[in-house]
Amino acid sequence: MPEPGAEPARYALPVIKYLGSKRALLPQIVVAIGDCLRELGLQPTHSTVLDAFSGTARVGHALKRIGCRVIANDHNAYAHALARCYVQADADDLLAPATGLVMQLNAIAGAAPQAPGASEWFARRYAHEARYIHPDNAARIARLRDEIAARDLGAELEAVMLVSLMEAADRVDSTTGLQMAYLKQWAPRALSHLNLRTPDLLPRAPAGKGMAICLNAADAVELDADVAYLDPPYNQHSYLGNYHVWETLIRWDDPEVFGIARKRIDCRERKSDFNSRRRHAPALAGLIQRVRARAIVLSFSDDGWSERTEIESLLAARGRVQSVEIDYPRYVGARIGIHNPRGESVGTVGRLRNREVIYRVVCR
Ligand SMILES: C[S@@+](CC[C@H](N)C(=O)[O-])C[C@H]1O[C@@H](n2cnc3c(N)ncnc32)[C@H](O)[C@@H]1O
Repeated sequence: MPEPGAEPARYALPVIKYLGSKRALLPQIVVAIGDCLRELGLQPTHSTVLDAFSGTARVGHALKRIGCRVIANDHNAYAHALARCYVQADADDLLAPATGLVMQLNAIAGAAPQAPGASEWFARRYAHEARYIHPDNAARIARLRDEIAARDLGAELEAVMLVSLMEAADRVDSTTGLQMAYLKQWAPRALSHLNLRTPDLLPRAPAGKGMAICLNAADAVELDADVAYLDPPYNQHSYLGNYHVWETLIRWDDPEVFGIARKRIDCRERKSDFNSRRRHAPALAGLIQRVRARAIVLSFSDDGWSERTEIESLLAARGRVQSVEIDYPRYVGARIGIHNPRGESVGTVGRLRNREVIYRVVCR
């Protein structure tokens, strides 16, 4: 088993463009969780860690790699699929069938991208009305998504194939990383042929089979675990709004859409308290109070609404607070600049680096 804190290359998952992804901070997060486990007298291979806001699932994937049983939670369907693939599905059972299916689907996409019966609404909406994906690739994506839906793969293998498709689509998109806007001219990568790869499935962890759940984090933190890792949104940027195309690709529900960005209509109702300036602080306070795990690790960014002193006093009510600070680059969209829905540059971003604090508390 790799040790907590092994070099970043060991944790490498595909670079899906994701706001707040902890890709660059994985070694420090894994060390903080490992330190909590040590204080609790536990080995990773005999521990359960809850990732309450799992996003790309890369934190859970790194923890599974060092032997932990991981419970990964996120309330969006695309993130739930990522967690099912990278945390719940085990290579022992699914690597061989997934590899075979990836080859079959790539052959289908190469041979007949415009097959009759493919859900044409996907290309119309996301390649013509909006221009997130080149029409040729949008037709291929629709063809493959229909193909996955038509096969009775079972929940885990289906999630693995959906993640393979979503990551392939992410590699050929024409955005700056958020699905609020698309580039005025096709990005060079958008002209590449869609190509699926087999996701990096891990063998089952010695501590036990992982589990992906799709709950409000306020409920998920009431599950039993040794450590709860908390990485909530820290400002107004809604994940459903920013990744609505992935949500639709996974749900495949042909939703009603609105606006130039062609967002799903349910973006108006499905809100997170953590994206509301008014509800953020009480939601965070309630979350920290409700954690049932024996220790808490929390990611905090100085790019968000909360003040360090507020977070520290909430955590201090649970136990002795320790922290480590890291300076790191802001998400890819911030580095590229601010664009309107037509992909035109409309402003510049003030600062290009953030300070992230990783707190840890062993609960009293
Ligand atoms: C900062 S991101 C997590 C990033 C993740 N650690 C990673 O490395 O990819 C926050 C995540 O919380 C999810 N989320 C937001 N509000 C939530 C809620 N109330 N309950 C569950 N998940 C929520 C979002 O969908 C998003 O994926």
